[in-house]
Amino acid sequence: MATILRDWSYRYQWLYDGISGFAALSVGGETRFRQLALQGLTINSETKILDLCCGSGQATQFLVKFSQNVTGLDASPLSLKRAQQNVPSAAYVEAFAENMPFTDCEFDVVHTSVALHEMQSEQLRKIITEVYRVLKPGGVFTVVDFHAPTNPLFWPGVSLFLLLFETETAWELLKTDLAGLLAETGFEVGEPKLYAGGSLQVIQGRK
Ligand SMILES: C[S@@+](CC[C@H](N)C(=O)[O-])C[C@H]1O[C@@H](n2cnc3c(N)ncnc32)[C@H](O)[C@@H]1O
Repeated sequence: MATILRDWSYRYQWLYDGISGFAALSVGGETRFRQLALQGLTINSETKILDLCCGSGQATQFLVKFSQNVTGLDASPLSLKRAQQNVPSAAYVEAFAENMPFTDCEFDVVHTSVALHEMQSEQLRKIITEVYRVLKPGGVFTVVDFHAPTNPLFWPGVSLFLLLFETETAWELLKTDLAGLLAETGFEVGEPKLYAGGSLQVIQGRK
């Protein structure tokens, strides 16, 4: 599945940012979208935050407004090079999310934005376990990602988006109880908050 548009969106950052900015209109725009998962958290300049699968720094640029202690991790050297240029005040690490080069209990917050839908199911479980490991006790894992729309009017738009830009792992995520997976790993987690006709979920899990 997916089309050439997926490759282009990763090759040309302006295309990725344009599409994500357009999609973010469904929740009131990019600024609101990027902060949805942080609602209710106490973050200060010392809060140690990991932006997991940070891409070119699309969420990182908002995280550095709250904390001076932000690290972005991604597996793509090209994305990290762009992130370094776009948001130089963060630190960056090239690694796989399922095997992070961090010690146990290092971060107060791990944030991941529209990335978990790219993972195979076993990989997703490993990543959640890794996030649990690197979070301090009481630390929070914040996730924003796709969810199966609860409003039928959103299905055509979401389906078209997934067909054009995503692979089968995104369709799998729609059928996955992500909050349940966090709970199985040991996180204290409530019901996901849904936005954009239910097509977007926000989860906060506390270690
Ligand atoms: C759709 S982008 C999301 C980028 C950004 N977080 C955002 O909010 O726009 C997904 C990112 O996940 C990264 N990624 C995919 N699989 C990964 C893995 N196993 N470990 C680390 N990064 C991964 C990709 O390189 C890509 O930059």
